[in-house]
Amino acid sequence: MRPDAHAYAGAIKKDTAYVTRREGDWLALHNVCMHLGCPVQFQEGPQMYFCPCHGGVYNAEGLNVAGPPRIPLQRLGVRLSGQEVQLQVADMPLPTLTLPGDDS
Ligand code: FES
Repeated sequence: MRPDAHAYAGAIKKDTAYVTRREGDWLALHNVCMHLGCPVQFQEGPQMYFCPCHGGVYNAEGLNVAGPPRIPLQRLGVRLSGQEVQLQVADMPLPTLTLPGDDS
């Protein structure tokens, strides 16, 4: 972590986030697919996030709409500090594979 970094920012690993400025607020989505953890990629045309690994698809709000992911992309907290947009980082839950018949 940079010595001048704010506590809210934390360290960035290989993964990152998509940050979108919307009417009146901001949306930050972790780029890790909630199926098995591949990095999703946003495509401007359809305004969707696509996972290259198994065909997972999320809409612009990060909701899972097709493919194997069963839950939305993780949302990150966003706050503004002067001219900086800061993302709240924390340990993210790892996606887990649910086997057929495993309802736990
Ligand atoms: S890891 Fe994204 S669909 Fe499987």
